[in-house]
Amino acid sequence: MPSYALITGASSGLGLAMAEALARRGRHLLLVARHRDPLEAVAGELTQRFGVEVLFRACDLGEPLRLSGFLLELEESDRRIDLLVNCAGVRSYGHFLAQEWADEQDLIELNVLALTRLCHALGNRMAVHGGGQILNVASLAAFQPGPWMATYAASKAYVLHFSEALREELKQTGIRVSVLCPGPVTSPLRWVERLRDGRRCLSPEQVALYTVRALARNRAVIIPGQGNRWLARGCRFASRWLARKVAGMINKRYRPRLPQ
Ligand SMILES: NC(=O)c1ccc[n+]([C@@H]2O[C@H](COP(=O)([O-])OP(=O)(O)OC[C@H]3O[C@@H](n4cnc5c(N)ncnc54)[C@H](OP(=O)(O)O)[C@@H]3O)[C@@H](O)[C@H]2O)c1
Repeated sequence: MPSYALITGASSGLGLAMAEALARRGRHLLLVARHRDPLEAVAGELTQRFGVEVLFRACDLGEPLRLSGFLLELEESDRRIDLLVNCAGVRSYGHFLAQEWADEQDLIELNVLALTRLCHALGNRMAVHGGGQILNVASLAAFQPGPWMATYAASKAYVLHFSEALREELKQTGIRVSVLCPGPVTSPLRWVERLRDGRRCLSPEQVALYTVRALARNRAVIIPGQGNRWLARGCRFASRWLARKVAGMINKRYRPRLPQ
């Protein structure tokens, strides 16, 4: 019975690059995102190029009932998932009070609740099978408060701390937990494209390659890019007021260029 890597947010950006990097290494995949057509296209292409089995499932993970249905399906199937890559994530940007509450809630439902629930459900299955691996995708934004993207940065701080805590807790179960904290990545997200001026961005493929190697070495916190690693370290040593001031200044600077 083959085992699969389940990748959320696998139809685009980082999730897609992770799917390709893992398929290249012969992993069978189960891809998840909301829209079926892009998933089907990705699954077809990866199967053809790498000869691996690629299953896909369209599911809005931010909808608790739909997520329940998906988890039930997984439980009833005899497919073994030995790698979970929690990559699906959304962001909001701008003045917190000006955000639509529904968007803020959707962000928390997906970035925090769905990720945590997937770790719980699949972690339990992995424990029964004697082990597995979980990769949660946070961000460089996780290392300090993020004025002008307060909810997003806070959701990623949650992912970072939660994943590190889980890593310690789950050691005895044979489940290895890692957390990926990329800086800005070139991606279809237009606002990220606009952030690129003057800053060097890694491509999703570069991030995925670095991450897959780091996973093989069971690294705890994965930060692709030397500059990004220095930034993360700097945040740890800076006082909190300085870290939030600087983050606020940087984030606010890009605000006028962002879509409202
Ligand atoms: N891009 C960056 O610069 C950057 C930097 C640091 C961290 N990150 C993190 O990396 C992850 C991927 O970012 P990305 O830029 O590669 O994103 P992206 O290109 O926008 O892709 C997002 C993926 O998630 C899926 N998705 C969105 N909402 C979903 C939902 N409710 N349920 C299920 N799937 C959903 C999307 O497909 P559908 O639309 O079909 O659902 C898509 O496959 C995120 O967690 C992000 O926070 C990104």
